[in-house]
Amino acid sequence: ASKYRPFAPVRLADRTWPDAVLTRPPVWCSVDLRDGNQALIEPMDIPRKLRMFQTLVQIGFKEIEVGFPSASQVEFDFVRKLIDEDLIPRDVTIQVLTQAREPLIRRTFEALQGARRVIVHLYNATAPVMRKVVLGLDEDGIVGLATSQARLFNELAAQQPGTEWVFQYSPEMFSGTELTFAKRVVDAVMDVWQPTPQRKCIVNLPSTVEHSTPNIFADMIEWMHRNLARRDSLVLSVHPHNDRGTGTAAGEFAVMAGADRLEGCLFGNGERTGNLDLVNVALNLYSQGVHPGLDFSDIDEIRRTVEHCNQLPVHPRHPYVGELVYTSFSGSHQDAIKKAFAARKDSDLWDMPYLPLDPKDLGRSYEAVIRVNSQSGKGGISYLLESEYGLELPRRLQIEFSQVVQAVMDASGKELSAREIHELFTREYGLA
Ligand code: KIV
Ligand code: ZN
Repeated sequence: ASKYRPFAPVRLADRTWPDAVLTRPPVWCSVDLRDGNQALIEPMDIPRKLRMFQTLVQIGFKEIEVGFPSASQVEFDFVRKLIDEDLIPRDVTIQVLTQAREPLIRRTFEALQGARRVIVHLYNATAPVMRKVVLGLDEDGIVGLATSQARLFNELAAQQPGTEWVFQYSPEMFSGTELTFAKRVVDAVMDVWQPTPQRKCIVNLPSTVEHSTPNIFADMIEWMHRNLARRDSLVLSVHPHNDRGTGTAAGEFAVMAGADRLEGCLFGNGERTGNLDLVNVALNLYSQGVHPGLDFSDIDEIRRTVEHCNQLPVHPRHPYVGELVYTSFSGSHQDAIKKAFAARKDSDLWDMPYLPLDPKDLGRSYEAVIRVNSQSGKGGISYLLESEYGLELPRRLQIEFSQVVQAVMDASGKELSAREIHELFTREYGLA
């Protein structure tokens, strides 16, 4: 017998999701500077934080969780720096996180003095294991904790009327919480905050640990979407983690199921196996014809900055950005790509085998698309000679020369660059 509990699927009255495909982008919120940062071996110092913030702004994020100001002096000082030095563009809203504990909330509001507009994000755990084992509170106790701290938000915000306050609440471990209890806590917090359609609050539902398959998480989101009180006064946000490796799918399904907003990190940084990968979701949308409203036109520069700020490498096979993802090693793939490039000369449509997206759109070059190694065929070799050196080989010569290249690669076991292939060609046919 297994020591793990099976999933408990949510039974909905009808099985039709509000949407079966994504036709518009969600509201994006980057939590790189908070969830991403807290999971780093070496958390960012202020210069690295600032560089990450500026990169996020440049990409086009309008909501950015910049830290947990009550957690450390660096976190506090970074928020102060952004506000004091007027570094936040008018159309960008910073977000800060606080646990539902009075001294932390007071310190958080202290960090925010003079801010123009802020999302203040309150959280407390709601799942049974956290209630029983960690907090020692029953359900009423959790509701009491959340609502008393929500009231403190009202009180402290009223003392700083010059700031436009947006309140966000997360039932931490939502993915492991009974739905009726999650609804009870969220509704109770919203009773305190009294959102309206003109002054919405954000309800953020995290899969703090990704417990279930993404369809089940999405069913939970749909249930909340259908059952929360004051739905038209709420922005329904989700915050998927990636413990099962399905954070991207969980986020996409959640939006199909009724969520308005996604929290995540660039390239999926974050606690343990990371947060939802914002780049992945955004470029999935882009490659199905929906502009995400985020700019990844120089994705390598973004990757380099993120690697510098996080001091963590991005995997060479990471979707859309990895060093190898526009490289075709197989001869049949190379041949198909070559034919499709030739066929698309007069067309704007990207109908390309093996390349879901035009690498040029992300600042990547076609040069890297075709490389030649012992697994390739004649297609890649003649493509490189033609595209790089203008040499159009007749078919018989293509076959003959590919055997020469193959023999060299078999002997060395190494890949050949376009330059090496050209040198070999000129040597072989006495053109040098
Ligand atoms: O994963 C999580 O539950 C969180 C919350 C604090 C929102 O990061
Ligand atoms: Zn998280």
